[in-house]
Amino acid sequence: MQADILFRNAEVIDGTGATRQRLDVAVIEDRIAAMGDLPDWRGGVEHECTGLVLAPGFIDPHVHHDEIVLTDPDMACMTSQGVTTIINGNCGFSIAPLTAVPPFPAPLDIILSPDVPRFVRFGDYRARLNAEPPAVNTACLIGHGTLRINAMTDLNRPADAAEIAAMRTALDAALSEGGIGLSTGPFYPPARAAPTSELIEMARVAQAHGKLYVTHMRDEGDRVRESLEETLEIGRAAECGVHVSHHKCAGLANHGLSEITLAMIDAARQHQDVGLDTTPWIASSTMLNSGRHRQATRVLVAESVPHPEMAGRDLADIAAEWCVDIDKAMERLLPATGTFFIMDEGDVRRILSYPHTMVCSDGIARGKHPHPRVWGTFPRVLGHYVRDVGLFSLEEAVHRMTWMTAERFGLKGRGRLAVGQFADLVLFDAASIAEGATFEAPFTPAHGIIGTWVNGRAVWRDQATTGARPGRTLS
Ligand code: ZN
Ligand code: CU
Repeated sequence: MQADILFRNAEVIDGTGATRQRLDVAVIEDRIAAMGDLPDWRGGVEHECTGLVLAPGFIDPHVHHDEIVLTDPDMACMTSQGVTTIINGNCGFSIAPLTAVPPFPAPLDIILSPDVPRFVRFGDYRARLNAEPPAVNTACLIGHGTLRINAMTDLNRPADAAEIAAMRTALDAALSEGGIGLSTGPFYPPARAAPTSELIEMARVAQAHGKLYVTHMRDEGDRVRESLEETLEIGRAAECGVHVSHHKCAGLANHGLSEITLAMIDAARQHQDVGLDTTPWIASSTMLNSGRHRQATRVLVAESVPHPEMAGRDLADIAAEWCVDIDKAMERLLPATGTFFIMDEGDVRRILSYPHTMVCSDGIARGKHPHPRVWGTFPRVLGHYVRDVGLFSLEEAVHRMTWMTAERFGLKGRGRLAVGQFADLVLFDAASIAEGATFEAPFTPAHGIIGTWVNGRAVWRDQATTGARPGRTLS
């Protein structure tokens, strides 16, 4: 029997949570053709994998690479971590459908450049990705914030009936054209004035398509419990599945609250559909003027448009150098993004350990000094939290990065190693896997990733991209 690629003697972790097994895996074209003891098979390419783990390629349910997949299609920040599928359009902000013109209000201006190609319909964006695919598979949520920016001239009030109707029509069209769900970000200024009732109206459209309501909640700090209650209420009112993005309890005063929020989620799961994801870091990253600096122990400037030379530096040091207070320094740096040391290690571990939590990077690859999560998230969980800290098993970790996420977001044929499934694969060394990226050197690729394959084609080998761009658009 002849395969295109044959992996021999791999420690196969199949993504379901099942214990690893030593197997051979044969790939023909874009699918897994056979698994087991395959002595009679030959491969066009053969990999001897003794001692190495072969797993489904990781699925990142929360990124902001809507534009980067077009401008930097090799997506090394993802493939170098073993990620083969990403979900864009998060936190209420998607690249499409976009009828508004620049300058875009923050945080849309962080996700999109001023010269971004404008896709008036979501289907236009998909068509472009199909014509010029990136290395990874992509799916995209439709952002309520983007729809608001399109539909409203004054964002500082609730949408009126006509505006809600316009946004619902646009959302319905975008979901029909392949958007995989709705995302909202009432934390962010363009959607802050949206009352719960407006979000429910939007969630009803997602529900009609059998898709999820995914949210960067209104408040992840002092009012995280109220915000979680609002999210659950939206799910109940619209009878829609809800998904809490990058769950965290931000701010010194709120450290430890995850004990309560996870209990709330657990109780709600008895009678409604609730899921969540999180990042494995105590620092978050968003627009510099998000108000988070008041609750953080340290703030790094990720990027500043008027002061690019300040990228990577401590906000307090910049203020001291300029002989101004923090707020004044921040004002001078805008538009800008920052990295905020704002979470408690205990909460990070508790949320990560919760059995229904998926792993996400929340990566924003634009910018000169991004958060290390952009390049390091998945290897950090597998190395630091699984091998070194022992939070849970490697099989469990892979499950939360693959099959759990594929099932949650309806990504068919992905996330599990089985005959007939797409050949999205990662080969790694469990003994050495670790993030390379740090807060000081955020662009360093991970250690221990031997190779990454998307739809049966190698995209990352020998610590470099291969140039292949076999990614598909998923709906
Ligand atoms: Zn967010
Ligand atoms: Cu986000």
